[in-house]
Amino acid sequence: MEWTINGQRHAAEPDIRTTLLDLLREHLGLTGTKKGCDHGQCGACTVLIEGRRVNSCLCLAVMHTDDAIVTIEGLGTTAALHPLQRAFVAHDGYQCGYCTPGQICSAVGMLDEAAKGWPSHASADLSAPTLDRAEIAERMSGNLCRCAAYPNIVDAISEVAA
Ligand code: FES
Ligand code: FES
Repeated sequence: MEWTINGQRHAAEPDIRTTLLDLLREHLGLTGTKKGCDHGQCGACTVLIEGRRVNSCLCLAVMHTDDAIVTIEGLGTTAALHPLQRAFVAHDGYQCGYCTPGQICSAVGMLDEAAKGWPSHASADLSAPTLDRAEIAERMSGNLCRCAAYPNIVDAISEVAA
């Protein structure tokens, strides 16, 4: 079987019950995507599938052989950080860093959702949601941070959203 990840084709023959998260980490060596709960509760495993943020621990890898998958390794490089990666560094948006790849992938997907005008539970105006701090916190609520770096995470995302 083959997958398109960060613009490159990858081949592997995992058990058909393998999650996308385990394919990335255990079969392809893409360990930037983290395993926290393995139950869809923490968001550490968030990747982008066809531009939508998804918990990769809840996906079977075999279901996504025809999809474009992007992981944290595909968003930027050390020499050319993605704007969100740069903002997380500038605003100290992490402590241990374990949740950070998922936070950043999720933020990429979230900003795209907001740009499309999709409202959230916190949107006062459903027709024209604005990305204030409450809105960002609500939209990122699927990504937990055990270090509680939330204020700085919101600072980083706010800068890029602006
Ligand atoms: Fe997937 Fe926690 S590891 S949501
Ligand atoms: Fe440690 Fe978020 S920075 S869990």
